Amino acid sequence: MNLLSQEQIQEIRDSVDIVDVISSYVSLTPKGRNYFGICPFHDDNNPSMSVNRDKKIYKCFSCGATGTVFKFIMDYENISFIEAVKKVADMGGININVGKIPKTKNNNKLHEIYDLSLKFYINNINTTGGKEAKQYLYNRGITDEIIKEFQIGLALNGKDTLSKILLKKFDEKDIMKSGLVNKNAYGYLDLFYDRIMFPLYDLNGNIVAYSGRIYNKEDNSKYFNTRETEIFKKGQLLYNYHRAKDIARQKNQIIVMEGFMDVIRAHTINVKNVIATMGTAVTKEQAILIKRMAKEVILCFDGDEAGAKATMACADELIKIGVTPKVIRLEDGMDPDEYITKYGKDFERKIQNPMSIMDFKLQYLKKGKNLSNTVDEAKYVNEAIKEINKIDDEILKELTIKKIIDETGLDESIIRNKITPTEIQKAPKPKPKEKTKNKLNKYEVAQRNLIYYMLRSPEVINMYNTKITYMPTEEYRMLAREIKIFYNDKGYIKEADLIDSVECDEEVLNAIKKVEEANLNENYSIEEIDDYIKVIRDYNVKTEINRLTNKMKDELDPLKKAEIAQKIIDLKKGE
Ligand code: UTP
Ligand code: MN
Repeated sequence: MNLLSQEQIQEIRDSVDIVDVISSYVSLTPKGRNYFGICPFHDDNNPSMSVNRDKKIYKCFSCGATGTVFKFIMDYENISFIEAVKKVADMGGININVGKIPKTKNNNKLHEIYDLSLKFYINNINTTGGKEAKQYLYNRGITDEIIKEFQIGLALNGKDTLSKILLKKFDEKDIMKSGLVNKNAYGYLDLFYDRIMFPLYDLNGNIVAYSGRIYNKEDNSKYFNTRETEIFKKGQLLYNYHRAKDIARQKNQIIVMEGFMDVIRAHTINVKNVIATMGTAVTKEQAILIKRMAKEVILCFDGDEAGAKATMACADELIKIGVTPKVIRLEDGMDPDEYITKYGKDFERKIQNPMSIMDFKLQYLKKGKNLSNTVDEAKYVNEAIKEINKIDDEILKELTIKKIIDETGLDESIIRNKITPTEIQKAPKPKPKEKTKNKLNKYEVAQRNLIYYMLRSPEVINMYNTKITYMPTEEYRMLAREIKIFYNDKGYIKEADLIDSVECDEEVLNAIKKVEEANLNENYSIEEIDDYIKVIRDYNVKTEINRLTNKMKDELDPLKKAEIAQKIIDLKKGE
């Protein structure tokens, strides 16, 4: 972002009190010099996140999330850095005249390619060649208004029309990365042709892929999707997320469907707090996104067997992070699209009366079983207990136990014996922090701790500069370099400013997060620092000796061999 200078960004950050800002999202309570709250970035019930007013940063002791107000708002609202800066400026009453705030696009070329391709596809559907496609959409009740809103386009029958357009404007290297064009011995080929193009968006609403639907012929793949690219990672997206998130937060309810056609259809009856998983198994990342949008999560998958199975899997992913979803099942195997087409607004009654997840699960487990048969019945009870043990909701657990007793007439104590207590009653889990500590070897610990103090003290940065040439581990090396650059440039070191200066670069932030997990004492001794430096130097020397030893083995020229041997001896002397 080059619209605002580093100084302006700092001024904006300092115009607000980080404690005020964060407490408008999560409730904070003062404790000592810090404020504490429940971290919104991982599944937690304890106040692990501390906010430090003077340092202007927040930090979660459990998941390690850390940053300034900008990073907090970015992650909480899933918006870009500049959008977050704009928000904070508004809060601080600072007028930044940057006009229309552009969405952050780290991968500019790919985004530009997608922007151009979208224009092309949208244009196509409005030409005579697009008549049949439009008719197909009209027949499905998709109006021009919806076509426009969801930016639905068309890839025509040409083999390389898009390729040619793109090649005029972009480097081949970038085009090949986009997943829109293929190359063979005869030339370039558009990957999409003769399909209605549904753009897929990332969390910020940038178009990052397409799903192309067959409309005028039979084909065994109804939809063809862009492969994963640098900007398109399926497991990290949810269709319609950027449009649905605000409405979902207002209503405190999010409806999850399978297909994007279902979402588009729901919009036609003004149900807009909807997202789609797009037919793949829901990942933990997606589950967390869903959790952050609203408290009430309603799964409304296809009414067929596959939809029921997907509901089970998605529910489990949500349950694992403490969300107890509700479920809507649609009759006759219909999907939401078909249901709404048939019954229209009546769908809203479905939303108002979802089933509890456990009722759904019991119903699912009973399918294909004959409960008057003892073998089936035992199997049912065992499976049901397993499902009960997954949930954390005490009341729901009780109600479900009652139901099973009613259904089977089994003795209550038999069932109770198999029920494990909920999370709160269980022994506390070991902190994840300690786990990561165990995994680090001493070289990593030394690097991490050294950087911890580099982030706090120019003295340590200077010691690093004079005594170490580089950090062995890539991410620490990168972070140490950033610190060095920052310090050389500004003549001081302050974590919050460094974080802002890297413009929320994910890699750097991840490294900072790791370093901050060390949670060391704020004071250090020179001996301690020297010790870290020694460990790192030893490691670097050992690595170099290994490298030279291997080189020497492969060297045939005896003179050169001797030269290398001398180098090794010198290194060993210094060890
Ligand atoms: P569905 O098969 O339920 O699609 O797949 P749909 O929403 O009913 O589509 P229409 O009504 O026939 O047009 C759900 C989702 O799975 C993905 C798509 O993302 C779709 O939205 N899918 C499905 C594919 O990627 N490829 C396929 O061949 C089918
Ligand atoms: Mn359908």
